[in-house]
Formats: sequence, C-alpha cells, structure tokens
Amino acid sequence: MIEKIEQEIGCFFDECAKQGFMESFSEEELPKLKEALKRWDIRPGQHILEPGCGSGRLTEYLSRAVDAEGEVYACDISTEMIRLARKRSLPGNVMFVQASVNSIPREDNFFDSVICFQVFPHFTDQTRSLSEIARVLKPRGNLRIEHFKSRDTINSVHKEASGVIVSHIIPPDEKMRRLLNRTGFEVVGIQDSPQRYCVHAVKIKFC
Ligand SMILES: C[S@@+](CC[C@H](N)C(=O)[O-])C[C@H]1O[C@@H](n2cnc3c(N)ncnc32)[C@H](O)[C@@H]1O
Repeated sequence: MIEKIEQEIGCFFDECAKQGFMESFSEEELPKLKEALKRWDIRPGQHILEPGCGSGRLTEYLSRAVDAEGEVYACDISTEMIRLARKRSLPGNVMFVQASVNSIPREDNFFDSVICFQVFPHFTDQTRSLSEIARVLKPRGNLRIEHFKSRDTINSVHKEASGVIVSHIIPPDEKMRRLLNRTGFEVVGIQDSPQRYCVHAVKIKFC
C-alpha cells in the first residue's frame, strides 16, 4: 500500500521521470558505479532488492551481476518511473513493481542484499523503512545505502530544491548508526567524502 505522503512524493518523481531525470549514468558517475559494483560484491544466483529503483538505470547492472539464476526485485512508488523501467525490457530475472519500501510484498528473510541507491533521504519514516528492509533481508544479509556525492551536498541539493523533497535529508553519522542499530542492523562502516556517501550494514536481528 502507498500512503498519502508517499503518493505526493511519487507525483514529484513522476514529473522528474517525464523530464528524463536520472535516465542513465553520466560520464562522471560511471567510474563511481564501477567501483560501487565491485565493493557491493553481488554474486550470480543472489536475490537483490532495489527500493526506489527509479527508471531502472542501476537495475540493468544488478541484473547482469546476479545472472540468470539470481533475481532483482526493483520497486518504486512513482508510476512514471516504473513505466519507464519496464520499457527497458530487462531479462526475466528482473521484476519492476510499484510499491513502497515501507510495505514490500515479499516474504521474510529472502534477499541477500538490499541496495538503496540515491533514495534513502526520500524515505519519510526512516525507522519504518529500515525495519521493513530488515524483515525481508536474510540474517547476515547486506544493506547498502549509497550516493555519489557527500552527505552535505545531497542535503543541500534537497534543501534548495522546490517541492516535497526540501526536508529530505541523510541524518548525521551518529543518528544513522542509532537508526540502524534500533532496526536490527550492525554497522560495518559509513564513508562520507566528496566522491560518495555510503553505508554498509548487516542484518543481525533474526525474524
Ligand atoms: C532520486 S530518485 C533515484 C532513482 C534511482 N535509484 C536512480 O538513482 O536512478 C529516488 C526514487 O525513489 C523513489 N522513492 C521515494 N520514496 C520511496 C519509497 N518510500 N518507496 C519506494 N520508492 C521511493 C522515487 O519515486 C524516485 O524514483
């Protein structure tokens, strides 16, 4: 189920989709993507969840990494983003679903990794979103929160934007650690530099 506040955010991103926002990776982003894919260590046969997949520009790379025997389950609240993503005609191991990260229509303890790429600040109830991610992630499964800019830069961009995303922020490290610990994760590391902001956490709570 997609709640009212998320529907508003979905409409904001519908407009972004119509303007071709984040349709593909820029020349500047491609080396960062290559580095991230290596670091995420996604293997053939794995089950990956990608909440906030947008128009699926990352999904294509994830699908190659898991190969035909794996699966990428990509969801987004924006109708337009999901429509564009489906137009990519990706292989049968990819599913694009219109759903919120707060209510993922999959069983408990299922995914090997969850990749939150350039989406975490848009989760309006971050405790709830992380709890739902913890539910569907396997014990010792990996959670990656990734941006190709620093936390300060991302937060400033949102603050200066117009519309529903003005208050969408990545919390400071201490708050992020507390959030993750409270929702069943152990933090492996948080890296914040001009090149990237990334969090690696592992699920330790057993559902
Ligand atoms: C900045 S875009 C990034 C899209 C994609 N990850 C990429 O980098 O191309 C953020 C996306 O997250 C989606 N989103 C925001 N809140 C969400 C939620 N609660 N559940 C699922 N998707 C959400 C938006 O609709 C939007 O498509």
